[in-house]
Amino acid sequence: ERKVQALVDGKIPFYEPYMEELVADARENLKFTTSYAEAIPGAHVVFIAVGTPPGKNGSPDLRYLEAAARGIGEHIGDQFLVVVNKSTVPIGSGNWVGALVREAYEKKNGKKANGAFAVASNPEFLREGSAILDSLYPDRVVIGADQQRTSEVLYSLYRPILDQTFKAPSYMPRPEGLGAVPLISADLASAELIKYAANAFLALKISYINEIGQLAEKVGADIGQVAKGIGLDARIGTRFLQAGIGWGGSCFGKDTAALVATASEYGLDAQIVKAAREVNAHQRDRVVEKLLGELKILKGRTIGLLGLAFKPHTDDLREAPALDIARQLLDRGARVKVHDPVAMERFQKENAGLDVTCVATAEEVAADADAVVLVTEWPEYRELHWDKIKATMHNPVILDGRNLLNRTALTRAGFKVLGLAG
Ligand code: UDX
Repeated sequence: ERKVQALVDGKIPFYEPYMEELVADARENLKFTTSYAEAIPGAHVVFIAVGTPPGKNGSPDLRYLEAAARGIGEHIGDQFLVVVNKSTVPIGSGNWVGALVREAYEKKNGKKANGAFAVASNPEFLREGSAILDSLYPDRVVIGADQQRTSEVLYSLYRPILDQTFKAPSYMPRPEGLGAVPLISADLASAELIKYAANAFLALKISYINEIGQLAEKVGADIGQVAKGIGLDARIGTRFLQAGIGWGGSCFGKDTAALVATASEYGLDAQIVKAAREVNAHQRDRVVEKLLGELKILKGRTIGLLGLAFKPHTDDLREAPALDIARQLLDRGARVKVHDPVAMERFQKENAGLDVTCVATAEEVAADADAVVLVTEWPEYRELHWDKIKATMHNPVILDGRNLLNRTALTRAGFKVLGLAG
């Protein structure tokens, strides 16, 4: 209710570039409510976009999805309604949501729900931090439905995006050369699997480059050049080959875990996805191992962390590597100072348990520190006056966890530069 009230007041309850502008532009067409009775009757399409946080054994917690499905079922009016699963849900959830909506409808109305509604799956592929860009100019739109009639409602809804006929907002111009957006029309189970398989593939691309990064370090190769050299092969592609601390966030961890859990329900062992998860977890441990290797003793040392959010341009801290790294350092008796350009407020609200010192600037993170770790690749960290910062540090050690900084310049300035890849 608090979040909905914030939206009514024109405030966005999280940080996402240009979201405020977009919501302000669309003001006339938007209404925010917590009431099913206000939202559902009369609607042609309802998107379920509730959270599906990780539950036990890696399978997602579907409580919110269930509540939404029942709430919708109880309030369907006379109009044919398409109920869309936008949340990332386990394969088979389309059927499950359908059953819940039907049950709630029939209980409320005392009659069969035949033809009153249908369920579709419409997975999202947007990245936090570039959510609006990804939504308005997607690589593809996936619609999963078991009936032609249902898919047609969604085609017509997506038509302006598919044909790119909408007026582009001034702050988010249409990328040059963007033509019609491909539409994948699939059955429900395929659409659901597309989402998991896409996220797991991106996750394993990152783990792959991190594994190669470890080897690059051993043989004295430059992972940046290696990534470019393999990425320019169109079959591989340049994106998601940035080596470093690895992935965090609400999607890759959860979705790879869910894929492993679903596979195991069917008696399959998703070995490649499991391995990608292990490599990713190990990257965080390696940060602490590297610091230990350099400083020998972590007890009583002061370590500065640059970046808290799981990636730049967001204040999302879910599964953020910084939290894990801070916890491991604290466990080993180090003092930890942290900074993030936008996620500090959320961090202070959500992570009271972590006994770290929050400071207002990147420079303060480094002051008197025995080492600084660059955890999140915020572009402003590249622009810091590292030579001035060096003078304030107790020990000029920097671990560039994202291969963001100019190593040669830092070494020339007298820093001991550590990394996770060659
Ligand atoms: C992801 C998917 O990209 C998106 O399609 C899906 O709908 C939701 O999940 P998101 O989690 O917002 O999006 O962020 P993303 O940009 O994918 O980054 C995920 C993590 O991978 C971040 O921690 C990022 O730092 C890391 N990453 C990304 C790398 O370590 N290397 C890379 O090359 C790219």
